[in-house]
This record gives sequence, C-alpha cells and structure tokens, in this order.
Amino acid sequence: MFTEDLLAGQKILVTGGGTGLGRAMTERLMELGAEVVIWGRRKSVLDETAAELREKTGAVIHTQAVDIRDPDMVDEAVAEIWAAGPLTGLVNNAAGNFISRTEDLSPRAFDAIAGIVFHGTFYTTNACGKRWIAAGDKASVLSIVVTWVWSGSPYVVPSAMSKSGVATMTKSLAMEWGPKGIRLNAIAPGPFPTKGAWERLNPGQSGDDASAHRMDHNPMRRVGEYSELANLAAFLMADEVAYLTGQVIAIDGGESLTNGGTFARLDSLTDEDWTNIREQIKTANAADKAKRVKG
Ligand code: HXC
Repeated sequence: MFTEDLLAGQKILVTGGGTGLGRAMTERLMELGAEVVIWGRRKSVLDETAAELREKTGAVIHTQAVDIRDPDMVDEAVAEIWAAGPLTGLVNNAAGNFISRTEDLSPRAFDAIAGIVFHGTFYTTNACGKRWIAAGDKASVLSIVVTWVWSGSPYVVPSAMSKSGVATMTKSLAMEWGPKGIRLNAIAPGPFPTKGAWERLNPGQSGDDASAHRMDHNPMRRVGEYSELANLAAFLMADEVAYLTGQVIAIDGGESLTNGGTFARLDSLTDEDWTNIREQIKTANAADKAKRVKG
C-alpha cells in the first residue's frame, strides 16, 4: 500500500516496541525504510524482537531498556540516542492497564498506570521535543491512546484519565510546537487483542485467538488486525502528510460510534422482530389517530 522507501531517512523511537502493537508498528516502520529504536523494561524481550525484525526486514534497529516512569532514565536514554544522531519521530506506545473496580485501587495502583501512560508519555515527548526545538529540527510524534478518551470507561479509570491527558497533550502541543515544525497526532485503537492487554482487561480470555472474541456490537463484526493499525501509524509518520497535526483518529471498526448511538444495539434484530415492531407502531399510531378531532 506504500512505496517501500516511504520512511527512508527517518529514525523513530517506539516505546513499548518489543511486544504487541508496538512490535507490529516497529516492523512496519522498518519495512518502509525507517531506522528504529525500541524501548521496554525487559532487555531480553527487546533484543529478541530486534534480532527477529532485523532478520525479517534488513533494517536497522536498536534497543534500550528504559522504564518511562523514571524521567532521569528517559532523558539519559534520549541523550544516548542523540549522541549517535537525532530522531525524526517518536511513537508513544508504552502503556499499562488492568481492570479493577475503582474503589479497590490503592494509590500505588493508580500511580502504576498513570506513571507509565500520563507521566512517562510526557517525559519522553518533552525529552525529544526540547532537542528538536534546540536544533530547529522538524519531527512527528504519534501517541497511542484509546477510544475511551471520548467516552470514558468504567473499571479502567486510571487508564481512561491518563489516555485523555495524552490526547489533550497531542492537541495542545500541535498548536504550541506547530510553528517549530513539530506535529503530533494520536491513534485511538478499538479492540486489537494483544497478550499484554487481554491478560489484564479480559482475564481468562486469550489475546492471541481473535476468533474467541464476540464482536456483534462492532459494525465491522471483528477485531482489528495489527497490520491495519501499523499501516495507519506509518501513514501518520510519513512526511507526505506533514499538514496533518493535532488529530486523534479512531481505528475501531466504528465501535466508538455505536457507544453514542442510542439505537446502535438494535442491529441484532431479525426481520421478524422488525415486522413486529412495525405492527406495534402502527397500532399505537392508529390508537392516537382514533382520538384526534377530525378536521
Ligand atoms: C488492583 C492492582 C492490580 C489489579 C496491580 N495492582 N494489579 N490493583 N487490581 N489487578 C496494584 C498492586 O497491588 C500495587 O499496589 C500496584 O498496583 C503496583 O503493582 P505492581 O505489580 O508492583 O506494578 P508494576 O510491576 O509496576 O506493573 C505495572 C502494571 C502492569 C501497569 C500494574 O500491569 C504492567 O506492567 N503492565 C504493562 C503491560 C500492560 O498493562 N499492557 C496493557 C495495556 S492496554 P499496592 O498498593 O498493592 O502496592 C491499554 C489500553 C488498551 O493501555 C485498550 C484496549 C481496548
């Protein structure tokens, strides 16, 4: 769908790039010619992914073990990257989440999620941003949020709050840093089953088996393919769409629209149900008409 050199000359950092959606995006960026740096907390996982993707794509990939909750660790790792040459892009993908009743959360539990998603995303974005601004470099930042930034969501309140903050950062910095040549966008994915998310959000269900997920409430009747999200990420990182900034784009099969559509759930009704409904409405209309004064 893209020319093979779409991202040639780019050097992009992907946080949480060792697994799940971060890995899928990393692979696509490399296939399209980008040099990539991946971050994660487990060095062995990063190195294994890097070796596989290097072999598969032939592109250059580096790994750094970084916990983005630690601003000093973030700044040191970014300085190390810059020592070898500046980044042209950043993909804020690292996240943490689990379902829980909110009243059961300890402050440490809230901080575990907000520390990664809210604070960590800001630390990483600002560590890169200040270097781009000092050098006068153009750059692109893409953050992975979630459709809950519009709807909110029960039982994942620290994540919904933190991701909303990242969406707001995206819009705010698009305005503040736009004149400096830095653009920021976000992707709000719907259901893309990954091991990390499914173990924590749908305990007992396998994230790897997409057919296990009932999707009758989703207009597309299925979960997302990693490649679909990776293609959108590559599109947003391409210089060819440099005028696109400050946007939060859902890729969810239309699921977030149905949350707001009062009658969206009716799409499971049968022909017979609709015939019955029509008859009931006709009866109600006729009863009303019978009571009206005839002109
Ligand atoms: C209540 C819990 C809990 C649970 C942990 N805690 N799990 N509380 N219910 N299920 C509490 C602990 O008791 C502790 O508080 C505090 O949280 C910190 O726990 P740790 O295990 O020490 O934290 P840590 O090792 O730092 O792990 C961070 C994490 C973990 C966020 C909790 O899940 C993680 O590392 N996740 C990374 C991968 C991930 O989550 N991927 C999914 C992203 S999905 P106390 O007070 O007891 O000490 C996503 C949105 C997707 O972002 C949307 C899909 C539609």
